[in-house]
Amino acid sequence: MAKRDTSFICQSCGAAYHRWQGKCEACGAWNTLAEEVAVTASVPAAQRSGRKGRAVALETLQGTATPAPRMVCGIGELDRVAGGGFVPGSVLLIGGDPGIGKSTLLVQASAALAARGQQVVYVSGEEAVDQVRLRAQRLGLEQAPVGLAAETNAENVIATLSGGPPVHMVVIDSIQTMWSDSVESAPGTVTQVRTSAQLLVRYAKQTGACVILVGHVTKDGQIAGPRVVEHMVDAVFSFEGDGGHQFRILRAQKNRFGPTDEIGVFEMTGRGLSEVANPSELFLSNRDAGAPGTAVFAGMEGTRPVLVEIQALVAPSSLGTPRRAVVGWDPNRLSMVLAVLDARCGVRLGGHDVYLNVAGGLRIGEPAADLAVAAALVSSLTGAPLPADAVYFGEASLTGAVRQVAQAAARLKEAAKLGFARAVLPSGGLDGVDAQVAIQPVASLAELVAAIAAC
Ligand code: TYD
Ligand code: MG
Repeated sequence: MAKRDTSFICQSCGAAYHRWQGKCEACGAWNTLAEEVAVTASVPAAQRSGRKGRAVALETLQGTATPAPRMVCGIGELDRVAGGGFVPGSVLLIGGDPGIGKSTLLVQASAALAARGQQVVYVSGEEAVDQVRLRAQRLGLEQAPVGLAAETNAENVIATLSGGPPVHMVVIDSIQTMWSDSVESAPGTVTQVRTSAQLLVRYAKQTGACVILVGHVTKDGQIAGPRVVEHMVDAVFSFEGDGGHQFRILRAQKNRFGPTDEIGVFEMTGRGLSEVANPSELFLSNRDAGAPGTAVFAGMEGTRPVLVEIQALVAPSSLGTPRRAVVGWDPNRLSMVLAVLDARCGVRLGGHDVYLNVAGGLRIGEPAADLAVAAALVSSLTGAPLPADAVYFGEASLTGAVRQVAQAAARLKEAAKLGFARAVLPSGGLDGVDAQVAIQPVASLAELVAAIAAC
């Protein structure tokens, strides 16, 4: 006998409560609890059927592991983030703000794969068939042999997919619109999203099709509801970018079949997303090289060096607690650099408002940006521009020393390629590196401050 049970489920993280409360204790979100009806069987299904488990044969760790064959769609940036193409039988979740271009990217990927002879189905739960067709026409892809359906019921979707020839890739746009007959909750609730995702994951594992789920993101950057889906899928990608910029960044947050620090860079054009082969050029375009407070950071995004401009503005504050505003970097890391500049170099910014911006909307996660941030801050404070032909990288420690970072050679090579003549970086660790730029080693932030004062 199935028992009807209602509980209050946090729509952000999936935690369940017996009664309503304003705040979810599990994830701290407010007003996210919604009442959902769950059908729980009072006797486990296995017991009801009287079925005993079936023993499986155990394997050893030895033996030849055949690398998973990949489906390459030909959109290089997407293939690289996926780890060299899509893995059959895997499930991928792509999250991003509404309007960022998720549907556009996936229509392009579907068409590209279909053009290579793969069987591709695009299921739209948000748009009608005509709307998807219009987009495909706009992208010039209407000839691609992609199967198209507008459907929101997960069982119907799976029945459709199972009915025809074997499908290689399925796009579900979006998972939040999917609902399953097996649960009574309203469409869009966590229970529905989770159940539909489970069905689709099982479909992927059973048939070897690659399933791509689109997920929407909430204001604070989390994939709404399907946080609970994140651990069920093999890979989670986020598609980022801001409205003011034409370019978009696809970032792997989790990937069972590839690296997680890889990014793909795209530009939104009138004819869809086009790949950006050299992101450094894009991030450094429109650069105001002679202005104080800007430093070029030679960073790494996965296997690829990316040069980007760090902008700092330091101004005397009229507030009791000065403002600290950061876009594109970790605010805690900024506080640390400010504290080290204060304590070890005598650069006092305690009475100043500090604004820090990574130009172009890129988000940097590397501590290697410390040196460039410190240089930009000191330059803004003193009003002296930094040399326009220099790049900076190195990690600051709390003692004020500057530490070496990985892949110095790749960073220097990219700097030389883009016409930079010198690099300010931690001393040592460059044995055997054929640097085509002049190296200006600094052992500590104090040395950096002195060098900026001298130029
Ligand atoms: P869309 O893929 O619908 O976003 P999402 O699925 O993430 O919500 O992208 C919509 C935006 O992209 C919309 O603002 C228009 C823009 N766009 C272009 O600039 N060029 C194009 O060729 C297409 C198809 C969309
Ligand atoms: Mg969409």
